[in-house]
Amino acid sequence: MERFRTIIEPFRIHSVEPIRMTTREERGRHLEEAGSNLFRLHADHVAIDLLTDSGTGAMSAEQWAGVQRGDESYAGSPSFYRFEAAVKELFPFRHVIPTHQGRAAERILFSQLGGEGKTVPNNSHFDTTRANVEFTGAAAVDLLIADGLDPSSEHPFKGNMDLDRLEQVLETDDVPVVFVTVTNNSGGGQPVSLENLRGVRALCDRFGVPLFLDACRFAENAWFVKQREPGQGERAIPDIVREMASYADGMTMSAKKDPLGNIGGWLALDDDALAERCRTMLILTEGFPTYGGLAGRDLEAIAQGLREVVDEDYLRYRIKSTAYLGDALHAAGVPVVRPIGGHAVFLDARALLPHVPPLEYPGQALAVALYREGAIRSCEIGTVMFGRRADGTEEPAPMDLVRLAIPRRTYTQSHVDYVIEVVAWVAEHAGELGGMRIVDEPPQLRHFTASFAPL
Ligand code: F0G
Repeated sequence: MERFRTIIEPFRIHSVEPIRMTTREERGRHLEEAGSNLFRLHADHVAIDLLTDSGTGAMSAEQWAGVQRGDESYAGSPSFYRFEAAVKELFPFRHVIPTHQGRAAERILFSQLGGEGKTVPNNSHFDTTRANVEFTGAAAVDLLIADGLDPSSEHPFKGNMDLDRLEQVLETDDVPVVFVTVTNNSGGGQPVSLENLRGVRALCDRFGVPLFLDACRFAENAWFVKQREPGQGERAIPDIVREMASYADGMTMSAKKDPLGNIGGWLALDDDALAERCRTMLILTEGFPTYGGLAGRDLEAIAQGLREVVDEDYLRYRIKSTAYLGDALHAAGVPVVRPIGGHAVFLDARALLPHVPPLEYPGQALAVALYREGAIRSCEIGTVMFGRRADGTEEPAPMDLVRLAIPRRTYTQSHVDYVIEVVAWVAEHAGELGGMRIVDEPPQLRHFTASFAPL
């Protein structure tokens, strides 16, 4: 097979879900009913759902076999021990605390480490992570390198932390923990290098501050390290993952991403006293520490998913198929964040709709058009998601992007070819798209529920 160029999906399809087709007129009605908020659409009315790669992947036959084996004992389930062993195989932290998803791990950790007057630095906080930091009264600051905010920069590790700015923040602010998100979701699914992690670690050591990973897409990050970082090409993926973990004191995790689960997450850490406090919080809202809001069968699916996601045939296909979409759009002249990231292709709506100012939400306008024209659901990652500050004021986000997130092992190449055709068509007609205004919005996390209207 090595002789041939085509990368095939490294799986066969075992059970299928129908896609219902809709007309443009029906989609117009669905948009009206949803207040032009794609989160509020019925998923049945979507043909290709690229809203998120979170919990939307297809599980393998072995994962479903694990579901059957799930042991639902309240305490000490063997499924928990298999889950814990699979996590520790890659992330050998002393304590592994299951949670129902990533944000629960964040809420528990920040309830212990956050608070008024504190600052949590990250390369980029994702929406729920930022919200969980800010909910405690702490400030969430993003310290991405400048290249990471330039959609056309070809820097190989655009997820890297700006070490100079991190040093400044550590000098001036009360920092309880430093976070690094791998890969950097908000900034294009871009990887963080081992070298950069070592640099962050050294600063954390100097200032006596713990380092945590938001490791949702750790395997994709490790694949990029293997491909792009000098001297890493011959290493096994689990080995690279363990080195990433070795620089951290703990992690928060969503098992809905690289662990190939439909639900789940965990908090892992070395600090015994902090772990005890976190477990107490876990019992308050999530459950006993050997299930943490999950069924035993979920723990089994995650344990098996962790073994599958570090497989090189899988990762090669995963990263190549995302690049296939992104490179085709780039070749068609559609502005996309370069180089193409791991889990998604990010369209640069600000560049594509230069006539729509950021406070008229070019990303939302583009996302709505992709649904109206092609029944494709995407996600605005821009001023709608990040424009409202904690103090109530509004300002443009650093970028206005539309994310086409690729669910794992779910869509075939012909689905992706269709997406290419739709996006290219909408891009050709982008000059006809107008901006949007927000009709109503909640005080926090507005992108999930706000209503929009065309201007
Ligand atoms: N951290 C990152 C980097 C994420 O991308 C997400 C979720 C979370 C934390 C929270 O995890 O959903 O299990 O509570 N991101 C999803 C997305 C929702 O669409 O990118 P969760």
